[in-house]
Amino acid sequence: MKRFFSLYLVFVMNIVFSQSVSSPSNKISVNFKLTATGQPTYTVNYKNKPVILESTLGIRLKGKPALEANFEIDSIKNSSFNESWKPVLGEQANIENHYNEIIIALFQKETQVKMNIIFRVFDEGVAFRYDFPKQVALNYFIISDEVSQFNLAENNNVFWLPGDFDSQEYAYNETSFSDINTHKIDLNNGIGVKSIAGQYVVQSPLMMKSPSGLYLNIFEAAVVNYPVMHLDAEVNHYKLTSHLVPNAIGDKAYLQAPCVSPWRTIMISNDARDIVGSKMILNLNEPCKIADTSFIKPMKYVGIWWEMHVGKSTWDYAGSQNAQNVLTRDLLPSGKHGATTENTKSYIDFAAKNGFDGVLVEGWNVGWEDWFGNWKEEVFDFVTPYPDFDIDAVMAYAKSKNIKMIMHHETSGSVANYERHLDRAFDLMKKYDYPAVKSGYVGKVIPRGEYHDGQTMVNHFNFVARRAADYKLMVNSHESSRPTGYSRTYPNYIAAEAARGNEFNAWSTGNPPMHETILPFTRLLGGPMDYTPGIFEIKMSYYDKTKTEQVHTTLAKQLALYVTMYSPLQMAADLPENYERYPDAFQFIKDVAVDWQDSKYLEAEPGDYLTVVRKAKNSEKWFLGAITDEKPRKSEIKLDFLSKGKKYKAIIYEDAKDADWKKNPIAYKIRTIVVTNTSKINLNLAPGGGTAISFEPIN
Ligand code: NOJ
Ligand code: CA
Repeated sequence: MKRFFSLYLVFVMNIVFSQSVSSPSNKISVNFKLTATGQPTYTVNYKNKPVILESTLGIRLKGKPALEANFEIDSIKNSSFNESWKPVLGEQANIENHYNEIIIALFQKETQVKMNIIFRVFDEGVAFRYDFPKQVALNYFIISDEVSQFNLAENNNVFWLPGDFDSQEYAYNETSFSDINTHKIDLNNGIGVKSIAGQYVVQSPLMMKSPSGLYLNIFEAAVVNYPVMHLDAEVNHYKLTSHLVPNAIGDKAYLQAPCVSPWRTIMISNDARDIVGSKMILNLNEPCKIADTSFIKPMKYVGIWWEMHVGKSTWDYAGSQNAQNVLTRDLLPSGKHGATTENTKSYIDFAAKNGFDGVLVEGWNVGWEDWFGNWKEEVFDFVTPYPDFDIDAVMAYAKSKNIKMIMHHETSGSVANYERHLDRAFDLMKKYDYPAVKSGYVGKVIPRGEYHDGQTMVNHFNFVARRAADYKLMVNSHESSRPTGYSRTYPNYIAAEAARGNEFNAWSTGNPPMHETILPFTRLLGGPMDYTPGIFEIKMSYYDKTKTEQVHTTLAKQLALYVTMYSPLQMAADLPENYERYPDAFQFIKDVAVDWQDSKYLEAEPGDYLTVVRKAKNSEKWFLGAITDEKPRKSEIKLDFLSKGKKYKAIIYEDAKDADWKKNPIAYKIRTIVVTNTSKINLNLAPGGGTAISFEPIN
């Protein structure tokens, strides 16, 4: 009996270990286990129902024993955390960060290596990360693989993008988990550079819905000095495993202890609104590291941009000649250049007249004659304007009209070249008082062999944000790796594209109507998106009778996107003359706020519809955005979010009765009513449609 008892103790204390931690309200619980072979594993339950079945955790190292088994427990530390913090700009003025944490300190006897696994359990999800403390046994090391598993309980419905190390600019595929297959999708989609990772590899954030109606989202937070995580899908076993993006020689990450991996996140709820409204990804990032944030300001802008995408003008000055030595050679103007001083002045006039903050000008600098497709290292210098863009005159004119210019740095993927020029490029911005830069990374990356999602590029994107903060500049990157909440730490990283934006509608198969109903559940969880909404001339045949491309939307839906697609940087993307033809609808774009006191998601279903209301910061005004996919939609909205006892003028911008994204996209109507917080409004969305409403208190 005595013998049995001591054996049992050894078994419990040294070989198998298990401990649970629950979310503050106990809805979600994680159970960590060390198996008999010393392998760390975990499971996750939602309301006592298994959601993630036993899944392994571990890291493989290059030239060293793997950190995935033969561990012992060194110590366990439990704690709780609850704070509220104020983002500089955001969907809400105060964000609650409330979780229970467990730190499991592991020790691998034969190598003497220590590795901690940290779990944080929030009410809307679980996060875990690997933590490598400072130690003699592990100093510099190279990660060759991460084997974090997400072993799903069911064959969920999934919204997936093919795993691609270079791009996320895809439309979503909606299939059951068992039907994920990148060989079955059309890759003729307008993306310039793709590096498909495999037949059964998908991107994160991965949004799913279980057969019993549970919403699940797998993503990551705080990707800093680490590659992006894609996911290998074992389609018949409903299992996902982390797939880190390699560098040019196949390694994943170069690290030195002490250091941490990004957080791996699993959001779970039976209400989709909990996921779309979650601030978990931001909460898992470090607090703001910028001491003086006064230069970080929200902006509504117009720009010399859509006119190039619809083919009315060009980025380049000289046409399609191959401009070798473009920086010194005399170029002959083609007559189609968009970024002229004169055209810029007319956009500045339009911006000033309509209350915008900024004007973006693309194609202002030399290099566009052969910018794309040659994997060329020295394309742009980011400081030399074309002869017809007088930067001094532009700046003086913008200043006289109280408009800020937005800089454009297209790198064509030559990051080596951009980093060499970055300080001079930022100096030029300071000299001419540009507060923000839109950067772009179209093309294969230089250093050659690197991918947009690898550790080197992640470090580049984060470095540019930090360097810009030194200069008190804001950054909006396009074709970067998708954000994972770093804008909490560097809020001057004001927006990014990093998903399929509105531009694809101008020159490709475009974005199906359901696209914008998924992005808030995926891409937007990591930070604001520069989606560039507001297209009123929806069919490209307007510009050229032979064109069949169109934005997959109604006009009213384009207005609603200013509310549903959160960003403190919002473009009115269409041409000024198009807005001038629809001044009553344009009024909503002029009125809508871009920084918010509060946001409430009223209705949400990924891939189907979304309705959100937001209260403007330092104001009593509210704005509503409601969008649908290709199906028409009716619903009744209670206005109980409005202040009690106040009367509001509600201006409703909605689809006309016969509106339809394909057949009749521009048809809209506008009506004004008086409402209170006991009123209800009926929404009536056309196929591919939307509704936008502004609420303004009357006295
Ligand atoms: C792709 C960006 O997304 C787009 O906004 C930009 O106009 C082009 N690259 C050119 O830089
Ligand atoms: Ca893009």
